[in-house]
Amino acid sequence: MTVRTLDGLDVAGKRVLVRADLNVPVRDGRITDLTRIERLSPTIRELSEKGARVIVCSHFDRPKGKRVPEMSLAPMAAALGEVLGKHVHFADDCIGVQAQQVVERLAAGDVAVLENTRFHAGEENNDLTMSAELAELADIFVNDAFSAAHRAHASTEGVAHLLPAYAGRLMQAELQALQKALGTPTRPVMSVVGGSKVSTKLDLLGNLVTKVDLLVIGGAMANTFLAAQGVSVGKSLQEAEMHATALDIVALAKASGCEIVLPVDAVVSREFRADPPTETVAIANIPADTMMLDVGPATVADLVARLGHVKTLVWNGPLGAFETHPFDAGTVALAHAVAAATESGVLISVAGGGDTVSALRHAGVAAKLTYVSSAGGAFLEWMEGKTLPGVAALEKIII
Ligand code: 3PG
Repeated sequence: MTVRTLDGLDVAGKRVLVRADLNVPVRDGRITDLTRIERLSPTIRELSEKGARVIVCSHFDRPKGKRVPEMSLAPMAAALGEVLGKHVHFADDCIGVQAQQVVERLAAGDVAVLENTRFHAGEENNDLTMSAELAELADIFVNDAFSAAHRAHASTEGVAHLLPAYAGRLMQAELQALQKALGTPTRPVMSVVGGSKVSTKLDLLGNLVTKVDLLVIGGAMANTFLAAQGVSVGKSLQEAEMHATALDIVALAKASGCEIVLPVDAVVSREFRADPPTETVAIANIPADTMMLDVGPATVADLVARLGHVKTLVWNGPLGAFETHPFDAGTVALAHAVAAATESGVLISVAGGGDTVSALRHAGVAAKLTYVSSAGGAFLEWMEGKTLPGVAALEKIII
């Protein structure tokens, strides 16, 4: 990976445009989780302390090229100010006169946030005029939004071709962690992939079986693989039309020397709600009128035992319906085992994807893994082996 970082970069007095990801969870107008802002703050602080005039831009939500007042970045600017412990200026537009005036007034060390880039259709169209207008505001571009790097937009990709472009500290940390996990990993590598649909994770599974030594499939996706191999899965969620594809993935795994690991037992119920009557049964004995909603203790024991023999773990997706008690048990138990192995220094563990991070938080171990990505869709696309346009643009050297 040959992206330039902030190391040795002289930014004193320079205008630095930072692409951040301020697309944070908001409920009833209030930010409910500051993680992305906190993880961005080291880059902003470093640039500000080195005397840069820091101009932060980002999208929020999907306003589709229109000004939607509820999707303003003003609350995120205030939250960034609180995290940094200093006043953060705000420009009512990300390009044009309003943005220029705010930037002109910035002194060395000052920070401003520009209004939502997606208020302009040119952002998502990766319009050259929009990129040029963003570039006009600054001398240097720093991309610290790994979690938006799968989008080829004006502020993530286009502008990187028009200014000297660098990776911010969060982008750098994400790229280093991911390189360690799948690029040049310490083997054996185990990947855990959960979630409900094979159809949405096809590219991911296809890429992983060629890269990892063990692929654990959990969640409702496992039901599709089991059913494809002739197991009666009762009323469990599964995709009958994906059976042939699942068998193709199994064959590709075999040809690539990757072992696919499926559940050996399950916690089943006749109802999907919190705390219904449940049974724990072997995979061969799923009652016809029940649904598999979590992996069982024998599966957890199997996974924990296998964890003892691997050096690197890449995790995306819960093992069961973890948001509904007691079907969080399998995911929580594996999360604790991963955290313990990581803490004892025998495992490099990297996790990402919205649900996965929620599950790790729920288990109370999110801070105990080697690295937890701040990205959702970008993490998935990276696991699929795809080139992320926002990262690729940083690899171009501009003199
Ligand atoms: C995310 O939250 O995953 C990123 O900010 C990307 O958002 P998007 O899916 O709306 O492009």
